[in-house]
Amino acid sequence: MNAPNVDTQQRIHAVLEWLNQRIVGQERLTERLLLALLTGGHLLVEGAPGLAKTRSIRELARAIAADFQRIQFTPDLLPSDVTGSEIYRPETGEFEFQAGPLFNSVILADEVNRAPAKVQSALLEAMAEQQVSVGKVTYRLPELFLVMATQNPIEQEGTYPLPEAQLDRFLLHVVVDYPDAQSEREILAIARSEFQHEDVAPTVELDPADVFEARRAVADLYMAPAVEEYLVQLVVATRQLDELAFGASPRASIALDQCAKAHAWLNGVDYVSPADIQNVAHDVLRHRLIPSFEANVVGFSMDRLIDDLLEAVPVP
Ligand SMILES: Nc1ncnc2c1ncn2[C@@H]1O[C@H](COP(=O)(O)OP(=O)(O)OP(=O)(O)O)[C@@H](O)[C@H]1O
Ligand SMILES: [Mg+2]
Repeated sequence: MNAPNVDTQQRIHAVLEWLNQRIVGQERLTERLLLALLTGGHLLVEGAPGLAKTRSIRELARAIAADFQRIQFTPDLLPSDVTGSEIYRPETGEFEFQAGPLFNSVILADEVNRAPAKVQSALLEAMAEQQVSVGKVTYRLPELFLVMATQNPIEQEGTYPLPEAQLDRFLLHVVVDYPDAQSEREILAIARSEFQHEDVAPTVELDPADVFEARRAVADLYMAPAVEEYLVQLVVATRQLDELAFGASPRASIALDQCAKAHAWLNGVDYVSPADIQNVAHDVLRHRLIPSFEANVVGFSMDRLIDDLLEAVPVP
């Protein structure tokens, strides 16, 4: 590896370390944020209220000096509230595009399941194509574009679950859990000091060029043929399980490939091992597999199914 790459790697690492100082005991979430950043993917995050979902994405945006926008999804939201719309200007007699909140680099799409399908699909389309079409005109979203959508696991009345068939547009589906007692103490200490003092500025700053360079390095990472075969066998195996109505699509293979590479790179290794694939497998596959009707009836756990899958497919 040449010098500039090592430098980028150190800077990205510094971002992760800084995030882990600011967000205590949620190392899985912070690492997943970086995997998304390193691959150009988007995250769906599920967790009870108050588990630092907002805090983590906001802190990431600060660390990479990117524009941040939170969009609260509600039942009365319209697609144009998210994408923007053409506004008539009487002075000029022309229509002018007024960009919506999506035109920012880091987006928190909060409680996506509270907005109707039309709004959700406007978001999913923007994520997939990195552009927004209004009327006949297409507008490019920022080159660095990262969406973290949140979903509350507590069943609410009047929510619109994201369409299962579109969930696989999210690179990762992360489940956030409660911090342990020691982390809870540290969270209190941080909250108290933040209450008393000025906000702490990020100690690291990354610019978009660093991110793009890192993405190229990640994409170039070596994966041995045997490891690639292991990845393929894992995905193919999902299509033969009785417990599933639908297995993983090729999008899942691509996501596994990208996330495993990003995971290896983030750990300073220049080749992918089966352990990298196993590490990301749950978060990559969890939302892409659809249980069969029969399986869903009897206390089915998708995570356990993925555990079994990892047990069953021989590791090279
Ligand atoms: N792991 C943590 N480290 C540091 N601070 C934390 C952590 N978890 C929660 N907090 C603090 O608790 C409060 C709630 O966090 P935050 O607003 O990010 O939660 P959230 O997951 O977005 O909740 P909601 O689902 O209600 O939007 C904030 O003041 C945040 O700073
Ligand atoms: Mg929040």
